[in-house]
Amino acid sequence: MPRKKISIIGGGQIGGVLTQLIAQKQLGDVVLYDIIEDMPQGKCLDIAEASRVDYFDIKVTGTNDYKEIDGSDIVIITAGLPRKPGMSRDDLLTTNAQIMKTVAENVKKHAPKSIVIVISNPLDAMVTLFKNISGFKANKVIGQAGILDSSRFATFIAWELDVSVKDINALVLGGHGDTMVPLVRYANVNGIPVMELLERKYKDKAKADEVMKALVERTKMAGGEVVKLLKTGSAFYSPASSTIAMTEAILYDEKRVLPVCAYLDGEFGVKGYYVGVPAVLGANGVERIVELTLNDEEQALLDNSVNAVKTLVEDMKRLGF
Ligand code: APR
Repeated sequence: MPRKKISIIGGGQIGGVLTQLIAQKQLGDVVLYDIIEDMPQGKCLDIAEASRVDYFDIKVTGTNDYKEIDGSDIVIITAGLPRKPGMSRDDLLTTNAQIMKTVAENVKKHAPKSIVIVISNPLDAMVTLFKNISGFKANKVIGQAGILDSSRFATFIAWELDVSVKDINALVLGGHGDTMVPLVRYANVNGIPVMELLERKYKDKAKADEVMKALVERTKMAGGEVVKLLKTGSAFYSPASSTIAMTEAILYDEKRVLPVCAYLDGEFGVKGYYVGVPAVLGANGVERIVELTLNDEEQALLDNSVNAVKTLVEDMKRLGF
């Protein structure tokens, strides 16, 4: 069987880490595309020169030519510009939408059979735009956000309870922004509800509620917390790792249940929008959406988050995309 081909559009921080992880895990040959001349070639040369040490024999190719992505099985999009001082939210949306439009046209032309994972922000708008411009089927265009947001929630729970993060199951729904919905009621440690363990720890329900509220808030603001510390740029290791989980689920047809930004056609009461929900990921991309029962409070939080996504998409349309 020929090796799978994975192309990455945008060879910045996330694109570089992704290339190295894909190489080390031998998931497939990698093409790293960027508009900056020589930069992706330099990163790929550097990564390839570690191949003897890391013991991989896959090809990593840096390029400024879209032709190199011909026939890709998976295309991962990280292209975009970060917000600069003085730039309004609309300015950023216009700039990144313009970039995404060009990317989508080229992916459509060169890799029409690929499954596409979008990472670029603002995520919910960028994944919508990619689908609209490319005309790809909705199950083949997926956004990465929920795995990372859920991993952040799980990490903070593990630190609070002083247990291994491997035993934490935590799920975050909704848009990839301040309105995301970490699902407290479903969070558990190997099946034991996190709230029960917090109440036992503090022997006080009100205190346990207060601690959980802080974990939820930290999860929602986690991207900003990293930005503040880094001073230049945003998180890149954890978004890259989260994307690897999606890539493996698709390449190995794993049927994993992962929270991703998926197109909803009536599920969760939402029609025609991309929203973060649990989905079965396999060889066909999003194979189905996994619905779950929400109580009134959770549903209200999700509705609020969906409204934020709708506003973002409407803003993009207003700006001409
Ligand atoms: N085509 C291809 N690549 C482009 C284009 C374009 N038209 N415009 C910009 N790029 C490239 C930049 O040259 C840069 O190398 O996209 C890359 C983005 O990399 P970084 O700025 O390092 O950003 P990164 O941290 O990798 O994040 C990428 O993911 O999480 C989101 O908010 C984040 O939108 C951002 C994206």
